[in-house]
Order: sequence, then C-alpha cells, then structure tokens
Amino acid sequence: MKLSATFLLLLAGLLRPALTQIIPPGSPGFVHGKSSAAVTFDNSSLLIDNNRVMLFSGEFHFWRIPSPQLWSDVLQKMKAAGFNGVSVYVHWGMTEGKQGHLDWNFHRSVTAFLQVAKRVGILVVMRPGPYINAETTGGGFPGWLSNIQGLARSNAQDYTNAWQSYMTQVAQAIAPFQYPAGPVIGVQVENEFTTGTNFAPYMVTLESVLRNNGINKVPLTYNDFNAAGRYASGQGVVDLWGFDSYPNGFTCSSPQFAGVSTGYAGNRNQYVPNGPLYFPEFQGGSFDPYGGSGYDACYTLTNNEFANVFYKNNYANHATLQSLYMTFGGTNWGNLATTNVYTSYDYGAPIREDRTLSTKYTEIKLQANFLHATQAYLTANIMGSSSDGQTYATNNQVWTTNLRNSDQTNFYVARQTSATNLNPVTFSLRVSTTAGALTIPQFGGTITLAGRESKIIVTNYVFGQSKLRYSTAEVMTWTTIDNTDIIVLYALAGQNTETVIETSATSVQLTQGNGAISSRVTGGTVVLTGNPNGVSVAQFGRTKVFIMDKATAGTFWSPRQSPTTFDLTNRQPATLIGGPYLVRNATIAGSTLNVVGDISSSGTLSVVAPAAVNTVTFNGAKLTGTKNAAGVWSGALTKPAIAATIPSLKTATWRCSDSLPEVANSFDDSKWVTATKTTTLREQKPTAGKLVLFGDEYGFHQGNLIYRGHFTGHATGVTLTMQGGAFFGYSAFLNGKFLGSSTGSSSDQATNTWNFPATNTGDNVLTIVNDNMGLDEDFSPTDSYKNPRGVRGYQLLGGGDFSSWKIQGNLGGESWVDEVRGPLNEGGLWFERVGAHLPGYDDSKWTANCSPLTGITAAGIRAYRTTFNLNIPATADVPISVHFTRTPSSNYRSVLYVNGWQFGRFVSNLGPQTVYPIPEGILNHRGSNTLVVTIWSLDAAGAKIAALDIAASVMISSTKEVVATVNSPGFAQLR
Ligand SMILES: *[C@@H]1O[C@H](CO)[C@@H](O)[C@H](O)[C@H]1NC(C)=O
Ligand SMILES: *[C@@H]1O[C@H](CO)[C@@H](O)[C@H](O)[C@H]1NC(C)=O
Repeated sequence: MKLSATFLLLLAGLLRPALTQIIPPGSPGFVHGKSSAAVTFDNSSLLIDNNRVMLFSGEFHFWRIPSPQLWSDVLQKMKAAGFNGVSVYVHWGMTEGKQGHLDWNFHRSVTAFLQVAKRVGILVVMRPGPYINAETTGGGFPGWLSNIQGLARSNAQDYTNAWQSYMTQVAQAIAPFQYPAGPVIGVQVENEFTTGTNFAPYMVTLESVLRNNGINKVPLTYNDFNAAGRYASGQGVVDLWGFDSYPNGFTCSSPQFAGVSTGYAGNRNQYVPNGPLYFPEFQGGSFDPYGGSGYDACYTLTNNEFANVFYKNNYANHATLQSLYMTFGGTNWGNLATTNVYTSYDYGAPIREDRTLSTKYTEIKLQANFLHATQAYLTANIMGSSSDGQTYATNNQVWTTNLRNSDQTNFYVARQTSATNLNPVTFSLRVSTTAGALTIPQFGGTITLAGRESKIIVTNYVFGQSKLRYSTAEVMTWTTIDNTDIIVLYALAGQNTETVIETSATSVQLTQGNGAISSRVTGGTVVLTGNPNGVSVAQFGRTKVFIMDKATAGTFWSPRQSPTTFDLTNRQPATLIGGPYLVRNATIAGSTLNVVGDISSSGTLSVVAPAAVNTVTFNGAKLTGTKNAAGVWSGALTKPAIAATIPSLKTATWRCSDSLPEVANSFDDSKWVTATKTTTLREQKPTAGKLVLFGDEYGFHQGNLIYRGHFTGHATGVTLTMQGGAFFGYSAFLNGKFLGSSTGSSSDQATNTWNFPATNTGDNVLTIVNDNMGLDEDFSPTDSYKNPRGVRGYQLLGGGDFSSWKIQGNLGGESWVDEVRGPLNEGGLWFERVGAHLPGYDDSKWTANCSPLTGITAAGIRAYRTTFNLNIPATADVPISVHFTRTPSSNYRSVLYVNGWQFGRFVSNLGPQTVYPIPEGILNHRGSNTLVVTIWSLDAAGAKIAALDIAASVMISSTKEVVATVNSPGFAQLR
C-alpha cells in the first residue's frame, strides 16, 4: 500500500528524488523515478517514446574483435536480420591492467563502440560488470585484483575501492549515449550476481555510482542466473529484471535437444507481475573447452532447428525482450580466455567467428521480421496451452500455446511435444477466428511439423487494410506498397499449406509461380492451397500474397527506408529484396532503388518495390532486369571477380630461434623478479616450500611463466606442485637437461616428483615453464579467480633447499609496454620478452632453413618467423584463418602471433581448435604481414606441426566499411 501511494506522489511530481529508490520496478511508465523517461516498460513490453517495442537483441563483445572498423559489419548484419538491439559486456581487466591506470582507447573504447551503434541505428544494453563472467580470464577482473584481501563482489572496502575508477569512468562514457541522445536503453548492474535475494549493499553501492555518474535516463537492468527472482522486486537497485536461460546446456558432443521449458510465463508472473518477460541472455550457442568437440558441434547443438523450436517457445511464453548469447562471439585473442575455453569464442553463434552468416542467422531473420511486423504480439495474453487441458491440436504429439491480443489476433505456437522427435507429425488445429471456431485446414490435408520444427500460426491477422483469417503457413513480414497490402508467408518445401484471406474481391489471379499454389474465391474469402515451391504470388483487390518455401523466404531481406534510425516505428519495409548474401540497406531515390549489400555468388536479384521504381542499382551498378505480372522485378546479380590469391605457407621461408634459453645455467636472470613473499592473502596457500611463487603476486597475470630455482648441494630430485588452470601444461629442466612435463588434463594442478640425473658442485638451476590458461572465473562468488598460477609447492629431495627463486612473466608485468594491444596480449616466453613477435624485429641472426613443419627434436621451445604479403581488394570480404593440422599423440603447444597480436594458443594433444581466424585489420589485407608461431614440445622426442597454412573461408564481394590495418606499434617503438 505504501508503495502505491508513493507511486501516485511520484506521478504528481511531488517526490524528492531520494525516495524514488523504493518504487517497485515495472510500475507502468516508471523508470528510476522518471515517469517522463523515454524508455519505460509495463507488464507487456518495453516502451520507447511510448511506442511498444520488441527488444530483439544479440550479445556482441566489441573487444573480442580488436579491429574496430569491423564492428559496423557485425552490427549491420545484426540489423539486417531484424535485431534492433545489441547487448554488450565491458571488460574491466583489459581496461585497467594496472590499478589506477585506465585506458579506454582503441578496441577498449566504449565511446567508439557506442558511436558505431548510433550510426548503425541499433539499441544497446550495456553490461559493464564490474564482474562479467563471459568465459574470460578472471571473469573480467584484472589480475592485480586477485591480490586484495577482501571478497570480490562484496562490499569489502578494498574491493569497493578497486572498482570505483572503472565504474565511474564507464558510467561517464555511457551517460551521453542514453536514449534519446544515443542508443543506450539500459545498463545492467553486475552480472548473474547470486548472493542474497535481498538488498545487497554491494549492489546498492554499484547502483549509486552508476546514477551519480549520469546513468539516470534509462532502466537499470539485472540478469538473474536462473529464474529465481533475485532482485526481482528491485530492492531499490534494479528497474528491469530478467533471467538467463540455456536450455540445451553446453555439452556440444551430444547435440540432442533437451526438453522445452513451459514455465517462463509463470516465472514472470511470479517474480515481475508488473514487468515484461525479459531474457537478458538466452542460449545463442555454447562455449567449448580444450579437448571439446569444436564449435561446429556447438553450432549443431544450437542450430537453426534449436532456434526455431526454443526461441518460438519464448514467444509462446510472451517474451518481449530477448538477447541471444552469443550472436557474434569473436576471439579470445591475447590471453582473454579463462580456463574453460580456448582461443576461439565462435560459440556456434548465428554470425560465425569469421563474420559469415549461418543458417541459424536465416532462421532468426525470419522470426525477427515477423515480430517487428506484428504489433499485436506485444500486448497479447496467453489464453491457454496444451498443459491446461485446452486441446488445440488434434494430435497429442503437438504442443500448442494460444496467445490473443485484444484486437482478436491469435497466435498458435505449435511445436512437437517431444523436443527430440526427428520424425514429422501431422495434425489439424482448432482455432478461433472472427468467423467462428474452425478446425484447420478446412479444405483437405493436414498441417505438418517436421522433426524439431515449431510454427507460429496466426488467425485474424490484420495487415494494412487486409486480413488473414488464418494461414497454416507462417508470416515472415508484411508491408503496404502503392496502397497494396503485401504479405509474405512460408513453409518448408513439401509441406501442405492453406491460407484464407478475407476479401470482397470476386476473383484472384496467380501472377507468379509454377503451379505450386492453387486458388479459389469462396464465401468472401480467397483460399490458397498447396506446397510452396519458390515464390508464388496471388493477387486480388488491393492484396498480394507471396507464398514461398522456407529456404526461398530466407533469401529475402526487408530493409527499412530510413536505414540508420532505430527500429521503433514504421516497421513496414519499403521494399523486399531476395537473393543476395546480405542487404545492408536499400533506399529509393525517385525512380531508382539503390541496394547496398554483399554478394557471395552470382544469382538472381528479386525486388518488390513501388511501381515508380524502374531502375535498380546494386552497390552503385545499374542492373538489367524485368518486371513480371506480379510486379516483381528480377535481374541477374553477378558477383564481381575478386582478384585475390592467398599465398601458401607451404613455400614460406622461415627463420627460427630457441625460445627457452632459460634452461642454460649461464642464462642471466639477474634482472628477473626475485621471489620474496612468504605469506599470501589467498585462500589457496603454498602446498610446500617457504616462498610464495604465485605469478600474480609478482605482477604476472597471463601467458607463460618461467621460473629459475637455484640451489647448491646434491639434492636427488624435486617434488613440484604446479597450477595453471584446467588443461595447463608445464615442463621442468635441471641444468639444461629435460626432467619431464605434465601435458594437460581437465585438472588445474599437477604434482610430480622428478629425479635429478646429476647435480653440479656449484649453482644448480631448476627451470620450469608453466602455462597459464587464464584466471578462473568467480561465478559463485567465492574468490575462485584468486586461485594461483605457477609453482604452488616445491620440495627438494635428498636435503637442502633452494637458495633463490627467480620469476619472469610478460615483459614489464603490470607495467607492460604495448598501450595499443593492451595488458593481456603478451606472455612470458623469451621470444615475447625480446619482442620477436612484433613487426620490425630483426631476425637476421636467427637460424635460416628451418620450419615448424620439421620442428624440433627435443623437449623445449622454438619460435618461427615468416612474412607474407596480401593484396585483397578493399571491396572484398575475405576472412583468412591460420590452419594447423593436429597430431593428437604429440604433446606440444603453440602460440600464434600475427603482426604482434596474439591470436592463437594451440594444444596439439587436446585440441580441438585447429583453425584460427585473423580479422582483417589485424591481418594487413593490402601489404606485409609478420607471423610468428612457436613449438613447445613437452615430449623428449620433440615435435613438429604436421601442416600449417593460411586459407580464406569465403570470398565475398562486400560493402563493409573499408578496413585499414590497426595502427599498432612495432619493435622499434616497443623494445
Ligand atoms: C497487465 O496489466 C493489465 C492492466 O494493468 C492487465 O489487464 C493485464 O491482465 C496484465 N497482463 C499480464 C500478462 O499480467
Ligand atoms: C548503406 O550502407 C552503406 C555501407 O555500409 C553505407 O555506406 C551507406 O551510407 C548506407 N546508405 C544509407 C542510405 O544509409
């Protein structure tokens, strides 16, 4: 009672701002005390400028593609499919590599990203953490944070002090981009924060820092890890509550479908009766660990059929805000990965790591088009489903949910009751229409659901002045052109469809098609039946019905006439364009339609446009074509020749150098860090030995760590406990002689006893090279990101102790030198420290006539350098990857650098990644490139890379932004 009274006061504008904190979320028209805010919501949907909007969003981490000129390509591809939103984590660790030293430039620039989003015209939900999880090292925490005493993600004073600068600056960067000045419509507080369902002081402190730094025009959002209602009633912190769902899990090796949840609507009703059903993250793919099945398997787990069944189930539950995690995954370049993922973060997402479009993207495009064209969905109510004894389908193998809007538009979301059935099922459907209750199809045949198929069947569907009584085909979109209502319907090839449109027309003409669809006029309706095949067009009165098979419908694009504005109103496309790989925009100027897009292969361009259009250009070139009886223009679209040959590394000239000189007794480690610490604040203490040797305690937070332990006397061996995160490996040497390795398993730790062959009378040196697979995440939160890396424990056998331990990681540790590529890019191997991965390094003294294909014949590490030129036109999108051939029986690891950027960590014995995409801009597509690859043989026998080459995945004629090579320093500037 008290709350609603407060709310009334608020509406009257009488409230002091301080009291607005206790307003519950979801009060209509309310966002953070501003009833006049442009971005609000109620129990149905988001409202922007009082327009109801479906937020159809996808997750994209701009910092996972450090070539910023490619960001617009990803966002335009999302927008072209019908995404009107993008959800974005920001990475604290890569921004503040040293406490107090924040760098928001280059790929880290929130401002630059938001400018691109604004230019493209896509809404943004920012998720700055400070904790993000995201399968990234430390879950986004900087390595230095692991040295604090306090519990992270609590209100511990040292933790609070640590995030102040970052959160202050990120809020200040976002604030000028809040809608309507910019694209930001929400800012998420923390991430999957599971501690306490009540007021957590930490959350309140975060909220006040956001608000005090200008985030006061848009809702503060929250994503609950599961539908548990944490912060759902706001607790003065959160305006808009939602929860994550990954119904098919992350086991990419078993691509069976899990069951479909029927409970989402109930979750909303229970936790946010005044708010909409919001999925801040819904499964868009899956991550994959070392030794996993690879991202093509993850794609299969979450493919177009998964998207069809599971996303439509979200709509059956009336989700009106949905963000697919990931929509573009990108790359864990430069040590961004945490231990449970490898370099690729492709994620099996709809837009693949090389930015190519998948079949899942096409499925999503069909759904997004429908939702944006269908205002009635946003205010529909769930009327019933197969669970409450309502029988819609005549076959209990079909589960149906009925939603109905107050204007009587009905949505019947039908899917197979069993998500795992691969066989088709057929049924008829009892539906409600303004012409009474009907069982459809009425004129013979059945409706088919293929295995793993779902359909949204509508009745009383108004489009313009026309009305679909029902169709057993699905609606892609509709528009009105030249005062004629045009609707696009589709079904899988070979499926029977029946479409009934109310009309006063007395005749119908089939103006395009090959006999796939039959028509008749009966009882004030036009009835269209048949199996869609290609494009069929039926025309009557001021109505045109396009019926297509689903694959053909998938080639169509529905660009808006104002391509760069947000997709809030005017949802009806000005044109429909079929055929090309991608349409970025299409604008009509007088009698000319100018289409801008990408071509992957020559084919036919089909255009539905106003009659006044008599000329069509594609990327500026005039096309020749004709208009048919249906008014559809078609002409040949020829892919321009792409004059690009990709050189082969098979014939490359390599120079190589030993990259583990630290095993020699004579190696000078006097400038290395000397381990001095005897205590640690971490929960995980040393297991043996007097000194704390954890790399993070000495400022080394990523990549390989090298240790040199000195001792005199005649110890007979050593017992080592090493820790590097799951799948790590290490090798140990005594006085240059190989002792042995641990080659990697799902365990984050290995304890081994190594017997010494013989010791010197003077100084003995135990050299250890340890792989850091990234810091653990801190999901729970239990400070697991503080789990140490490096030597966890040591003990000499046969008497004595080490006289000193020297530690080396990346050059400079927290005072790293490469401002552009950032704090995480480099590890601690010799070739990295001397700068041999950088362009301009003088390798003339390195050994000639060697190759990673012949490799090394003993345990150790060798670095190989080569250069190659590319000459790929700026108007082509030619994603290039480095391809390794794995030898699973050979225990070796490689680090891959391209032009100074670390873009790969390869583990031959674990896999699965063998293909490493290098984004244009990191790779110089029009000039010289430097590639460095290492072989670290963990076996005494040595190792070689069975095959190594570069190759293009596709060659697309493209209108993406022209990508210049990222301006990054070379050897001369950095060493
Ligand atoms: C939303 O609120 C309206 C009016 O307050 C109410 O009539 C309707 O039933 C609510 N819908 C849901 C799904 O809670
Ligand atoms: C269409 O897209 C191209 C490529 O991104 C862009 O250069 C052009 O400005 C866009 N046209 C309009 C009208 O927005």
